[in-house]
Amino acid sequence: MNEVRQYGGMGNEHGATSGMPLKKVVLASNNAGKLREFAALLGSAGIELIAQGELNVPEADEPHPTFVENALTKARHAAKLSGLPALADDSGLCVRALRGAPGVYSARFAQLAGGEKSDAANNARLVAELHGASDRRGYYYCVLALVRYADDPEPLIAEGRWHGEILDAPRGEHGFGYDPYFYLPSLNASAAELEPALKNASSHRAIALRHLLARLSEEA
Ligand code: IMP
Repeated sequence: MNEVRQYGGMGNEHGATSGMPLKKVVLASNNAGKLREFAALLGSAGIELIAQGELNVPEADEPHPTFVENALTKARHAAKLSGLPALADDSGLCVRALRGAPGVYSARFAQLAGGEKSDAANNARLVAELHGASDRRGYYYCVLALVRYADDPEPLIAEGRWHGEILDAPRGEHGFGYDPYFYLPSLNASAAELEPALKNASSHRAIALRHLLARLSEEA
């Protein structure tokens, strides 16, 4: 099958197949923070990361009910339009007492209940839905999908979970999204109270990325 990909033109323009080192990868996001975070870790593995916007790749829709389907859709879209291997992530907050909500709908949690699409509105809905709940456990989840070319039948998938508890009042000024309400008992701080470098090294994205790097080095 590898031969078919290499000689039959089914791989990307760099001929990348499973087991071949990746040199240049497009990130299926234009988020500057993610680019910095991912570029630092992938750079240590000799991989250069380029934001899809630099290649005029527009954002893909995220229509699926699972994180992994959305990440794969974004990665395939970026690989198809750029002709490069592509990496995408999808993430969200999963709260046990809410049976995993807001989950894949984290960015639109308030909007789905008729509110506005903002962090403040999302957090207000989260706190309201957890009012009086004794089980405050939740975790941030991140899945990464890396495809060597658009139709890659063997995408690399890696996931990370960052466990914490949901506060009923905000703490801290850093971060974004649900961070002021996401408390980490082991650090005695909310995610918004952590220095950005510490959050970036500990988060669900960092955990998933380390798993992805381990998969890549297994393949090399
Ligand atoms: P995306 O996968 O980057 O689009 O993230 C989806 C949504 O999940 C964000 O809009 C946030 O609401 C939430 N989220 C994901 N990661 C984080 C995080 O590190 N801190 C706070 N909120 C997050």
